[in-house]
Formats: sequence, C-alpha cells, structure tokens
Amino acid sequence: MKKTVFATNNPNKLREVQQMLTDIELTTPAECGITEDIPETSDTIEGNSRQKALYIHERLGVNCFADDTGLEVYALGGAPGVHSARYAGEAKRNDDNIALLLKNLEGESDRRARFRTVITLIWNGTEHQFEGVVEGRITTERHGEGGFGYDPVFVPEGYDITFAEMDAQSKNAISHRGRAVAALVSFLNNVEK
Ligand code: IMP
Repeated sequence: MKKTVFATNNPNKLREVQQMLTDIELTTPAECGITEDIPETSDTIEGNSRQKALYIHERLGVNCFADDTGLEVYALGGAPGVHSARYAGEAKRNDDNIALLLKNLEGESDRRARFRTVITLIWNGTEHQFEGVVEGRITTERHGEGGFGYDPVFVPEGYDITFAEMDAQSKNAISHRGRAVAALVSFLNNVEK
C-alpha cells in the first residue's frame, strides 16, 4: 500500500504519530517533492487544517492528513486562535507571542483558555476531521523550560503546573494534539486498508 502523507515539516510530530500506527507508513510532503510552504490562509483552525490536506491531495492524489492548532483565550474573544503562531508578528517568535498575550491579559481576572487541534484526513478521497481540546488557564508569569510555544504560560485544568513544567509523556496524554491524534489513530487502525 502507498504511504500516507502527513503534511508537516516537524520530525517530532511525524515520529510521535508514526509510533502510534500499527500498519500505516507515513511520509512527508518534502519526501514527495513538495518543498514549498503549504498555504494557511483560512480564518479558522478547521479551514487551515483542511486547506493543507487538500493542497497535498490535489498534487499527489494520495491519502493524507494535516493538523492545525490554536490557543483560544476566552477573555480575548478566542484570540490568538488561528493566528497563534504569528500573534506578535511574522517572525513567529514564541517569546514575543507570550509577552503580547500576558500584556493583553494584564489586570484580567478571567484567565480561562483552551488549546484546540483539528486534524483533517483525506482517506480514499473522503474527508474526515478529528478535534482535540484541552481546557486550562493562562498564568501571569512564565513557568518551566520544557515544551514549546505557549507552554510556559498554560496550566491545564486539574493541574497546578504549566505544560512547560510537565514531561512530554504527561503532556501528550492530556494535550489537544494528543487527543486529536488519538482520535485519528483509532480511525486509521480500524479503517479498511
Ligand atoms: P501549529 O498549528 O501546530 O503550527 O501551531 C500553531 C501555533 O500554536 C504554534 O506556533 C504554537 O505557538 C502554538 N502551539 C501549538 N501547539 C502548542 C502546544 O502544544 N503548546 C504550546 N503552544 C502550542
């Protein structure tokens, strides 16, 4: 059977998902000759994830999937949301994004937020979407060295430490991406190959 394309350039993400799949082999757009940045111009997380999956499917005609993630802060009307990576500018610097987020939440008592990941899978020409959500709150200062992105300021519900203070395994077990990937993997491990 042909390999399934995961529309990511992140080798950690690829490895993480591949480890959970029993009989499906994954590959990347780059290995299939798609080296340009895949456009993400939608104004929703669902839209971006779908846009990336369709981009691959239109060019390669193979089974493929793509993910997109955003941090949605309740007091900010869901921002940064789909703009999470570029919140503080095109440079996509995590540190600047966190600084802007903390500034925009200064004096705000409602610190509730959630991470949301949407994966779009195109399997034998049919689209499927899988969502993963983790609720939590934004701290007033950075804590921890692990993880990436907004991890140093996000405390998941039921915990009193940030994602950046957790080991990767504990984070993956409850995270937005971990949950979306679990739903994808459960589908792929049961679908007719
Ligand atoms: P992407 O869709 O996975 O590229 O994620 C978009 C942006 O959301 C990233 O640039 C990060 O800033 C943020 N993000 C995604 N996943 C996480 C996470 O697990 N922890 C913290 N930030 C994240």
